[in-house]
Amino acid sequence: MAAPIISPSILSADFAKLGEEVRAIDGAGADWIHIDVMDGHFVPNLTIGPAVVKALRPHSDKPFDVHLMISPVDNFLDAFAEAGADIITVHPEAGPHLHRTIQRIKALGKKAGVSLNPATPAKMLDYVLEEIDLVLVMSVNPGFGGQKFIASQLRKIEAIANQVAKKDLVVDIEVDGGIDPATAPQAIDAGATALVAGTAAFRGGSDQYAANIAALRGGA
Ligand code: DX5
Ligand code: ZN
Repeated sequence: MAAPIISPSILSADFAKLGEEVRAIDGAGADWIHIDVMDGHFVPNLTIGPAVVKALRPHSDKPFDVHLMISPVDNFLDAFAEAGADIITVHPEAGPHLHRTIQRIKALGKKAGVSLNPATPAKMLDYVLEEIDLVLVMSVNPGFGGQKFIASQLRKIEAIANQVAKKDLVVDIEVDGGIDPATAPQAIDAGATALVAGTAAFRGGSDQYAANIAALRGGA
């Protein structure tokens, strides 16, 4: 099995020194940098906007994996693309026309992802799986770091992995929420190819980041 992509969520970083934190987690072996954008409306928390993504861009050459938890989402796609996002992931509930939203992300030259909340079925992907680069399976209800992994999402990961294989597509399956060295292998066994981790990546201070990432990879 290929090593999973590790995408640390800066939601758990020290916001007073975000640039430094991004450099540290990049140097510690992060593959992607996961950026959680929340609007206080689609999810019950507020985080950052395109200006912060733009300010962070010079601090890392790794792909910026931007998870938009905002609605309506379409008005902000261009701004995040211009700010330096590489992957732009949206929730189907965040706009009236998911297919159109995906087309816009691709027209901007970015990779397109679709994220499914814990209660959102894999079926939502039936008519868009061929169009996208990534599925982000939420294994917690979005809004906050540090929540408990919802194990029922493993079945969803399996179902999506089967569809991707059956249709012979190149689509990453990323899992987000409650990922730690105990839950990471479960997600990978189910078919996840990328892991988001906030708490488990940023715990213990920057000296620990490399060990944290190695532990998520299974000690490899
Ligand atoms: C939750 C975010 C996650 C979160 C993960 O809405 O999408 O990316 O930061 O945090 P942990 O790894 O602490 O569950
Ligand atoms: Zn996220």
